[in-house]
Amino acid sequence: MKCKLISKQILNKDYYILTFENSEIASKIEAGQFVTVKLNQVVPGQRLGIPLSIYDCSEKTFSLFVKILGEGTRILAEAEENESLEILGPLGQGFSIQKDKNVLFVTGGVGYPPLYLLKKNLENCNVTWLHGGRTSTDIFECDYAYTEDGSEGSKGLVTQDLIKIIEENKIEYAYSCGPNGMMKAVYKILKEKNIPYQVSLEEYMACGIGVCYGCAVEVVSPDSEPLYKRVCKDGPVFNAEEIKWESI
Ligand code: FES
Repeated sequence: MKCKLISKQILNKDYYILTFENSEIASKIEAGQFVTVKLNQVVPGQRLGIPLSIYDCSEKTFSLFVKILGEGTRILAEAEENESLEILGPLGQGFSIQKDKNVLFVTGGVGYPPLYLLKKNLENCNVTWLHGGRTSTDIFECDYAYTEDGSEGSKGLVTQDLIKIIEENKIEYAYSCGPNGMMKAVYKILKEKNIPYQVSLEEYMACGIGVCYGCAVEVVSPDSEPLYKRVCKDGPVFNAEEIKWESI
């Protein structure tokens, strides 16, 4: 579906926010879902569409939070306001919306955007947000920031103070999006404390619509046969206990 780019906001040298107008897509969005964006020019080796999680939406508009990671996202960053792009979505399954709870968010790098929209949709919840990245350019508004090089927030991993923060804030439910290693470490801690946890997986996607199985991840099987689910169609949001963490 053609969507008009109505604003482009440059956050820093690596990240930008694109806002598109299209009420048909915007009105159906649930936090945690994504879209695929087709570029207006052919890029050799480029997939059919670039999968991007939805950062924000209103009745008629939706925003994508993009990190320049390669040729496709660099070209996308050069799109001009009023240009129209072909966008498919919203795709996938979103987060379950909690009510009246103390909630924990743990995000890493480009895992930030889907939880931004989720925070707006939670009903009467106290959110404690931990966000980590390599350097200060990966850091956005949150309660506790962590960088690998110490250029912003605390130096180290987003998981290093987790147990203390969970206890201090009486966390009852948790959500994440970010690197698999980070979410695996968070799950280990939350499982011991019996805290339910939903994760949004970031997996390489080719078709984005459930056809190619290029994004399959192994999930816990009820028998000895391995079982797989597609991140693009069955996810990207899963209950953490569904995932076979040792396989990803
Ligand atoms: Fe093709 Fe998920 S990307 S099935």
